[in-house]
Amino acid sequence: MKGIILSGGTATRLFPLTATTSKQLLPVYDRQMIFYPLNTLIKAGIRDILIIVSSEHSGQFLNLLGSILKNYGVHLFFEVQKVPKGLAEAFILGENFIGQNNVAMILGDNIFEDDFSNDIKNFKSGGKIFAKKVKDPERSGVVRFDKNNKAVEIVEKPKKWISDYAIPGFYIYDKQISEIAKKVQPSERGEIEITSLHNYYLEKKKLEVGIVKGEWLDAGTFDSLLEAGNIVKNKKLYKKFDPLINQAILEFNEELKTIARKKLL
Ligand code: DAU
Repeated sequence: MKGIILSGGTATRLFPLTATTSKQLLPVYDRQMIFYPLNTLIKAGIRDILIIVSSEHSGQFLNLLGSILKNYGVHLFFEVQKVPKGLAEAFILGENFIGQNNVAMILGDNIFEDDFSNDIKNFKSGGKIFAKKVKDPERSGVVRFDKNNKAVEIVEKPKKWISDYAIPGFYIYDKQISEIAKKVQPSERGEIEITSLHNYYLEKKKLEVGIVKGEWLDAGTFDSLLEAGNIVKNKKLYKKFDPLINQAILEFNEELKTIARKKLL
């Protein structure tokens, strides 16, 4: 299983914060936001990870992540998305990286408490997405279940209520996904939507929908960014990180301190 973190976009809702850096490099408590999705993939056992970034901030991503995991058996690759054309474009940009493998994609601004190791281990083919009951489903992709808990309808940010189950930004697809993404037509808002991919598999009866039990935070607005930091602090989510990442961050911090000290001499 390969992994992708989609970390581009313009994040206009977070201006002026994102005038100087990427949303996914903003702090959530004691570390940059991107470490949370990175941890989710690593904790699930994924070791080859493609990070898709915008051209404006690509250097900053490289400074932070370029070599931080090189001694830990995790291989990070980078790709630039010049224009944010939609979430599904990640599978087109990542086509060569995915090759003949299955792939798990996580959004760079999504924070999860759950451990997805078993979902990754047990995945065979088709698609697997997740659902979480929320108070404001109109902000997300939404899935409706029938009375037997079977997913029957998926809509991106529905104008009319269809269900309280939002679709968080963590998706598992089989190796066909790049070919399918290439055929997706842009939506009314001009994006190639991830929900079109879910619907492709739903129609083919090859889509499984799991439930997210723990916290799911989409840190894309001032309020949700602040809330994410508070939840991470109060629930000590950083302590539940894979030890590999916490060790790598610690080592990186020490290295930065040593360099800073040398500069002062
Ligand atoms: O957070 C989960 C939701 O994410 C899903 O329920 C929706 O189905 C999905 O469309 C998406 O909705 P958002 O409105 O939250 O998407 P947003 O435009 O904020 O993009 C999500 C992340 O992906 C964000 O970190 C920016 C990045 N992005 C976005 C686009 C459109 C890219 O890197 N490239 C892009 O082209």
